[in-house]
Amino acid sequence: MNTDNSLKAPHVSVLYHEIIAALRPESPGLYVDATLGAGGHAWGILHQSEPGGMLLGLDVDPRALELAHQRLTSFFGRFHLVHSSYTELRNVLLTLGWDHVDGIVIDLGVSSMQIDSPERGFSFQKDGPLDMRFDPSQPVSAEDILNGFPEQEIADLLWKYGEERNSRRIARIIVENRPVKTTLQLSELIRRVSPGHRDRINPATRTFQALRIAVNHELDSLESFLPQAVSSLKPGGRLAVISFHSLEDRIVKQFFRYESRDCVCPPEQPVCTCGHQATIKEITRHPLTAQEDEVRENPRARSARLRIIEKR
Ligand SMILES: C[S@@+](CC[C@H](N)C(=O)[O-])C[C@H]1O[C@@H](n2cnc3c(N)ncnc32)[C@H](O)[C@@H]1O
Repeated sequence: MNTDNSLKAPHVSVLYHEIIAALRPESPGLYVDATLGAGGHAWGILHQSEPGGMLLGLDVDPRALELAHQRLTSFFGRFHLVHSSYTELRNVLLTLGWDHVDGIVIDLGVSSMQIDSPERGFSFQKDGPLDMRFDPSQPVSAEDILNGFPEQEIADLLWKYGEERNSRRIARIIVENRPVKTTLQLSELIRRVSPGHRDRINPATRTFQALRIAVNHELDSLESFLPQAVSSLKPGGRLAVISFHSLEDRIVKQFFRYESRDCVCPPEQPVCTCGHQATIKEITRHPLTAQEDEVRENPRARSARLRIIEKR
């Protein structure tokens, strides 16, 4: 028997109880965890849907799949873990013969396991190569962008994906100091052009966020995932999305608003001509956030925003 509680305890998963309450897993339902990570949410779904609930878990990081597999062994026979992007959700479901499912969770962003591994390059506090790929088989790393893209393109992506006001100066110092090879080298360059850097947050935060989003095409992937998720739900099935910054949350919010309206004609138009019909019902009009005690235990939870919808 496995007595290592770290493989079982779901306590590191952000908004764990809220996700279980949102999806209401039960036997014999079909569920998807689109970003398996260390398998914390997946564990809760399988536990709650005993004895007959089934789970499909997706991740692009082979290390995450290995860890999740270990953590979920006690549910053997009730899960499929697949190395795939959530942008392939429909195809993977078709392969399994799962036409529609009862619940889907997606917990965006980087896991603590990835942040804590300096060799993955996600952290500006630990020295490592500038990698930042969730899927190590993908061709382009952060280093390729920093050392290969024109200065203007780097500035644009820091602005667009990091909302970094200092994007031009940061892009300039990067290009002047090529090749930029390590996370601490990059952080130090950013610090040198960050006036005063009196903010509570490290001046490298926005640049690292922007690079990660660009390397992994995160926003495009989310836009491709959301309609697939909604069309994969049974009537009454639920989708729960955890996002970590305003760019992601905006995409989720706008998609949910649009899909929950019966008419999407411009408001000044007196008669509806669009024929659009609501496909979902918003369960959370405003996003749920973590309770203080969760934030105290897991600071990553501080910026988490949870939105939930139900399929009509
Ligand atoms: C925040 S973690 C998920 C943690 C998980 N909910 C738990 O309870 O342990 C996000 C995971 O999403 C994965 N990921 C990132 N982009 C992905 C994509 N396009 N498709 C599938 N998984 C992805 C990352 O590799 C990471 O393991």
